[in-house]
Amino acid sequence: MKFTAEEQAMLAGDYGTGTQLAMKVLAAIGEAYDAPYMVPVTRTHVALSNQEADLWFAEKLVAGGATCKIRPTVNPSFSWDNFHEITTLEPEDEAIVKRTHAAYTKLGAIMTYNCTPYLERNVPRFGEILSFSESSATPFVNSVYGARSNRESAQSALCSAITGVTPYYGFLLKENRAGNVLVHVDAAMQDDFDYQMLGYLVPRKIGFAVPVFEGITNPSKEALMNLGAQLNTGGNIALYHIVGFTPEASTREEAFQGKTPAQQVHITQAELTAMREELSAPGGKIDFALYGCPHFTIDQVAAVAGLVKNKKLAVPLFIMTSSLTRTLAQKMGYMDIITRAGGTIVEDTCMDQPCWKFLYGKKGITDSPKCAYYTKRRDMQFVIAPLADSVQAALKGVY
Ligand code: F3S
Repeated sequence: MKFTAEEQAMLAGDYGTGTQLAMKVLAAIGEAYDAPYMVPVTRTHVALSNQEADLWFAEKLVAGGATCKIRPTVNPSFSWDNFHEITTLEPEDEAIVKRTHAAYTKLGAIMTYNCTPYLERNVPRFGEILSFSESSATPFVNSVYGARSNRESAQSALCSAITGVTPYYGFLLKENRAGNVLVHVDAAMQDDFDYQMLGYLVPRKIGFAVPVFEGITNPSKEALMNLGAQLNTGGNIALYHIVGFTPEASTREEAFQGKTPAQQVHITQAELTAMREELSAPGGKIDFALYGCPHFTIDQVAAVAGLVKNKKLAVPLFIMTSSLTRTLAQKMGYMDIITRAGGTIVEDTCMDQPCWKFLYGKKGITDSPKCAYYTKRRDMQFVIAPLADSVQAALKGVY
């Protein structure tokens, strides 16, 4: 790879051992992918996780004096303020959260603790070069905004935040952004929930590819959030196009950059239904409801408030969202309605965190296959159902 004088100085350790390590990681990735050089990034998002390895790496960078040149937003952890009111926290879990907070703060990250930064705090424009980790975020910024990011890890995105550059390869190049599989969506796609199933099913049918969807009209931002989250959880798809909707696909020809699709597949309503049946735990009695994987928007919070207004939930209901949306929900009266029904809105929290230990071994309901996917190893079971149906189930305690 060719390096600028500044990048060479970083590699030589002139900016400290933390920056040197970050540049070495990026150089190794660049060499592995035959990148010719580095390019500057204008935005970064780091999927901070609170896991030991992540913390080890962040603290190593801090010890080496690194700070972020392009300050990243960060993924959710868990809000110890909110959870102290809900459950008893293990001291070691709380300690790791506090150490992670301290390390990332020292690095200069913007501590948003939100997994949908592309909607409210880190919104790119068309063509911007980014380094974004987080499964729903990378497909959204690539596909919906037409910004350019590879499918970064928490560590590679953090290295780009520190150095301000990323290796030039993969989805940063226009030619690699061409679609290669045409996906005819024959299902009606009437509910945002259908996009969860579509996102989970498509990678099974096409593997690692850039799908071009036809037959989808005017999806909501929540539908697109769901689609990206599942495409990149059920598989590893970080870029898709929707003909007539996303910015690099005004026509089918543009989406494929004039090439012929290598494969064509059809998605039917029956397949989406079968996908849901496969992913979902059987119905029956439920112990709780959990939403916000990815973090709920204010419109989704409003939808839940509308469903539970003046009613009592039979089981606890939790909604995860950003602190900004939680504050908005408070100001708009949604939080009061949900709290009076027996529900809780928690900010800054991911379901893949130890704060949910009090639900281990129980059966919940959610609208998100991603939520069910990450909690399997934690002995939690989930019925997966559309939002309205699942809230009705939480009101009755049974699905
Ligand atoms: Fe967000 Fe955690 Fe789910 S980062 S998408 S709540 S797994």
